[in-house]
Amino acid sequence: MRLGHSLLRLFLSVICLFSLVPIAARADADMARRVAPCTQCHGDEGRATPDGYYPRIAGKPVAYLYSQLLGFRDGRRTHPAMVGIVSGLSDAYLFEMAQHFANLNPPYGSVAASSEKPAVLALGERIALIGSGDDRLPACASCHGQSLTGLDPVMPGLTGLSRDYLNAQLGAWSNGARKAAAPDCMADIVKRMRGEEISAVAAWLASQPVAKTARPDMQGRRFALECGTHKAGPRQVAGLRSEADAHLKADASASARRGAYLATLGNCAGCHSMPGKPAFAGGQAIETPYGAIYANNITPHIETGIGRWSADDFYRALTQGISRDGHRLYPAFPWPYYARFSRSDSDDLYAFLRQLDPIEQVPRAPRLRFPYDWRGSLAFWTATNSLRKKPDVPAASADPQLIRGEWLVNGPGHCGACHTPKGLLGQDDGSRHLAGADMPVNGWYAPGLGASDDARYLHAGVDERRMAAGPMAHVIAGSLQFWTAADIDAARRYIQSLPAAVSRQRPSTGAALAASDIERSVANGEKIYRRQCADCHGERGGGEVGKAPALQWPARGDKGAVSRVTPLPNAVRAVLNGGYAPATSGNPRPYGMPPFRNELSSQAIADVLTFMAVSWKSESGAVSAADVDRYRGN
Ligand code: HEC
Ligand code: HEC
Ligand code: HEC
Ligand code: HEC
Ligand code: HEC
Repeated sequence: MRLGHSLLRLFLSVICLFSLVPIAARADADMARRVAPCTQCHGDEGRATPDGYYPRIAGKPVAYLYSQLLGFRDGRRTHPAMVGIVSGLSDAYLFEMAQHFANLNPPYGSVAASSEKPAVLALGERIALIGSGDDRLPACASCHGQSLTGLDPVMPGLTGLSRDYLNAQLGAWSNGARKAAAPDCMADIVKRMRGEEISAVAAWLASQPVAKTARPDMQGRRFALECGTHKAGPRQVAGLRSEADAHLKADASASARRGAYLATLGNCAGCHSMPGKPAFAGGQAIETPYGAIYANNITPHIETGIGRWSADDFYRALTQGISRDGHRLYPAFPWPYYARFSRSDSDDLYAFLRQLDPIEQVPRAPRLRFPYDWRGSLAFWTATNSLRKKPDVPAASADPQLIRGEWLVNGPGHCGACHTPKGLLGQDDGSRHLAGADMPVNGWYAPGLGASDDARYLHAGVDERRMAAGPMAHVIAGSLQFWTAADIDAARRYIQSLPAAVSRQRPSTGAALAASDIERSVANGEKIYRRQCADCHGERGGGEVGKAPALQWPARGDKGAVSRVTPLPNAVRAVLNGGYAPATSGNPRPYGMPPFRNELSSQAIADVLTFMAVSWKSESGAVSAADVDRYRGN
């Protein structure tokens, strides 16, 4: 029964996938550049680098690659570098990348002879080709193919991988860090292996030479079905829909439909869902300077969700930050912004949440430091916060578009949660409303909002010179891309009407360096820039529309004299970790920035950023290696 069901599912997903192919293939002259971030770690054409841990991805079966990419995005695999790279990308785009690498077949590198004892290698060979000889362990070759080169389209080969990588993967299955779609055969097999068998089979596999032309065999479908395979998600079938729309039932009331849009404006799913878990069932940790707070289960489950809540309870939580049983809620839940929801908005949101499937998932208690772990302190916080200056609606506030825009930005959009500097207790500093702020926990800087904002950035995540990264990429992917054009325009109108002074707040900049150090830094940085960066970002950092952001542009107001460069923390993070702009309906196949964490030392990264800041006459100063080191940790 299960086999029949998953057979049908595979068949359906294959149809869906392959119906995407022609679209992808037509537009694809530039795929090598689109996957430049991948080859930075995985080697030229995905052939793996000789020294490293990064696995070869070239020539692996397409459905296997695709399911792994979904796995990193949806929580079945957890390597942070990979998770960060693919987190904003869509199913369709990940499939296209999988296809790109599956079709490449650069030669395998040579394999160094193993220094392992012959007895160990013999044990490894036996496990791989024969198994344990009793019922306990099947031969690895029984699934991975007689020559261990894998089976198309799903089963990966086991040769051509490093010993470290093999050990890490088998270890990850045994401690639960790696999971495959159910039924997870490998979890089952690894559980039955002894420690010495794991290390022996890894040693033997890593010592096997691979024929230059090795390819997966073409008969792997049966194993794919017995061992689980990827599922076709709703987004694949129906195109991009917001998380809320995807969970709106066909027979939903008009109120619930309005509520779904409000949930999209407020990005409720962005915090209340875990990757790969049912939407709105909660569980995500919101990191704050005071500790981690978990977003609750807000599906209508009776015990673990809001199944017992009345519309009044819900309205009070949303607008006053008080839970059903009377305890106060931490402002990591941005209720001070949601206080701008009217009673009828709240009822619509409530109607939307009530029609979700109830999911049983117990909410986790916050992990906070004293005295913040005491919810009583929130009464004080609430009192202080209510004193904050109300944002000014600019003059001409009779304009309905401006009124709508102000409500969107300062209400459901909760833009100030990141873009407004915070006071001592985490409350908004009303005198610097949307003026730009360092985000204390993750070290990003959310720039001041104002003057020249372009609707395309908010809607698609790219405009003439910018491409959104990091937390802003998530806001656009989860919320802004689904706002109506009228609402995007209204929000932009309001942002443009903010007083000019507002956007002149600057992030903290780097250390003061001696003139001679700066000179040395600039000279070295220029060389690095020309070699590693200019191809994409242009000789003078002008960028290329849609493909790489401008790294400098004239500062607002004072044309020519000074230029702006990317604020320091964001620039350091971009160079260390790389990343993609969000995949949105307006920019479905975004380009990405390769990570230079391993390739460039902290000093080299400081040099290239100092070169940019100093020789392009920007307002930011020189950057030291210590500045870069601050962000290496996360
Ligand atoms: C910062 C370095 C880095 C970048 C950039 C990167 N990867 Fe990876 N990738 C890794 C590491 C490390 C692993 C192994 C993860 C593990 O141990 O689970 C991996 C694993 C994978 C796997 C699983 C391979 C297997 O055999 O199971 C695939 C597929 C993959 N990457 C594809 C990509 C694609 C496509 C991109 C670009 C969109 C990319 N990677 C970018 C570091 C990177
Ligand atoms: C019953 C079938 C089956 C058997 C037997 C089996 N495997 Fe697997 N193996 C799989 C499947 C399916 C996957 C893909 C899992 C996924 O989608 O993440 C896999 C993946 C792997 C991977 C990950 C490859 C990569 O590129 O990351 C390793 C390593 C591995 N198997 C090692 C072994 C070893 C060693 C043995 C023998 C002890 C073995 N397998 C036996 C089914 C099997
Ligand atoms: C920035 C992250 C974030 C966003 C966005 C967010 N929430 Fe929450 N929410 C939280 C956190 C964290 C908590 C738990 C607070 C606590 O435990 O004190 C929470 C708690 C709640 C509660 C109280 C549940 C209970 O059992 O007490 C409700 C109801 C709720 N959120 C609804 C919503 C709705 C509706 C939206 C969208 C309009 C939304 N949230 C958007 C983070 C968020
Ligand atoms: C979770 C935190 C967060 C929230 C919420 C958020 N932003 Fe951002 N925003 C950022 C960060 C961080 C950046 C810098 C991104 C980068 O460097 O690519 C940014 C960048 C921007 C920029 C580009 C600024 C520039 O100078 O280039 C605009 C415009 C913007 N955000 C608008 C908004 C609007 C409008 C909202 C509310 C609907 C919003 N943001 C909500 C964190 C956030
Ligand atoms: C393959 C093309 C490519 C190369 C090579 C490249 N970049 Fe990028 N870079 C990008 C893309 C695309 C983005 C946007 C990423 C995003 O939105 O997440 C970006 C983003 C950035 C940002 C952040 C800009 C912002 O406004 O948030 C900085 C800073 C940056 N790159 C600097 C560099 C430096 C320094 C180098 C050389 C060491 C370099 N880049 C090499 C494509 C590239």
